[in-house]
Amino acid sequence: MRLAPVSTQRQVRQLPAVRRGDRGWPLLGRAFEYARDPAALMRHQWEHYGPVAPFPFLGSTWVFLLGPSAVETALRNADKAFVNGPAWGELVGPFFQRGLMLLDGTEHHLHRRIMQEAFTRDRLSGYVELMHPAIERGIAEWADRADFRCYPALKELTLDIAADIFMGGAEQTSAQEMARVNAAFIDCVQAASGVVRANVPFTRWGRAYRSRAVLEDFLRSYLPAKRRTRTDDLFSVLCHIETSDGERFSDDDVVNHMVFLMMAAHDTSTITTSTILQLLGQHPEWQERCRAESLALGPRPSLAELDGLVSLDLVMREALRLRAPVPVLARRTVKDTVVEGVRIPAGTRVAVGVQFSHLMDELWTDPERFDPERFAPERAEDRRHRYAWAPFGGGVHKCIGLYFGGAEVKAILHHLLRSRRWSVDPSYVAPLDNHSLPFPTDGQPIDLARI
Ligand code: HEM
Repeated sequence: MRLAPVSTQRQVRQLPAVRRGDRGWPLLGRAFEYARDPAALMRHQWEHYGPVAPFPFLGSTWVFLLGPSAVETALRNADKAFVNGPAWGELVGPFFQRGLMLLDGTEHHLHRRIMQEAFTRDRLSGYVELMHPAIERGIAEWADRADFRCYPALKELTLDIAADIFMGGAEQTSAQEMARVNAAFIDCVQAASGVVRANVPFTRWGRAYRSRAVLEDFLRSYLPAKRRTRTDDLFSVLCHIETSDGERFSDDDVVNHMVFLMMAAHDTSTITTSTILQLLGQHPEWQERCRAESLALGPRPSLAELDGLVSLDLVMREALRLRAPVPVLARRTVKDTVVEGVRIPAGTRVAVGVQFSHLMDELWTDPERFDPERFAPERAEDRRHRYAWAPFGGGVHKCIGLYFGGAEVKAILHHLLRSRRWSVDPSYVAPLDNHSLPFPTDGQPIDLARI
């Protein structure tokens, strides 16, 4: 199978120059084209430049890495040429500073080892038990009507779940405070596409600086109590976990990790769940198939039982393929390196185009089509390349919350499948805002009815 449109010559080639028509706007570069349709832009880059494609973006020339082999080289990072901190830092650094994803090298390794203790199978089982009441409370309030905007409802729900599991109970905080926290997260995430990258009033970055302060104040106000008493929520776990060598997090570490974790957990799960609601609404046969499996389980399944929802698992994989919540991963090279035969100099900004691999004709049968069976063992299209499907990234930065996120998405769907039925116009295409993580600007309407 041929995966790269360029020849695999032995000698190392220089990075291709940006073609005249691909320079985009002064300062912005091709940011508009990316925001309009990232998949089309990546396809253009692949067809015109190959797997290592220069890309003018917000004042710098980035390099897109496209296709599973180039993605693998960056994420496995065998020669330690790629780092996260300076790359993500440039996009959202002041707002998610020292979150796990922005750390590198031995420091990242140490923090990840400590944090891993909060994501053991036993702890996940406990988190799943805590999720059910929050989900039941949340969806009980959903209106049964046509044109129900599921995206904002899901966003509120996943933030409430995060408040319960991460903070130890949404009831400690008022709805008004949670709304403020939610708005603050949105500002921080939206900062990624800010053109003015400084603390200037009335800009995305200006808003995000203020919002980061809101999040810090919110978390710091709980910190002393969390340090004092041990409870099962993630905040308390982060305050108390210790590796066998006695390593633990400082107060600043706990706050920085909490800000990042809450953002990482609720945005990505919301996108995944809303994509699934759309797809199951457009494919009633799959909705019924998933419902039958959920009805065969009790109302509050355990983590192991959620794992057994086979059809929902196929649907979730397909949703993550079609709309990866994190379509592109940022990296910076710290030394000269070679990817797919092309030299990339030290100091280059790199965009790892995970979403593109998910839609390649070379890897998937009819890639635009919703076809969850492609992940079934008999077909296993995702096995055609280790990085054909990589919505959770790979290598040392691979998502630490992937099992948590999967369980959360399945638990929400499980409750919905047992109590509601919904439909979506088969011709509906979600109008996505791609400035940061992709979300539907119309709130994603579904026709929702109680069973
Ligand atoms: C469907 C849901 C999710 C998706 C698609 C997703 C996706 C990703 C991706 C692609 C990365 C790698 C970033 C990179 O390499 O630059 C990542 C990292 C990370 N994710 Fe997730 N994520 C999800 C849910 C979660 C949840 C629920 C949590 C926390 C409870 C979480 C916490 C993290 C953390 C802490 C990292 C950084 C890991 C590291 O750098 O070592 N994610 N996620």
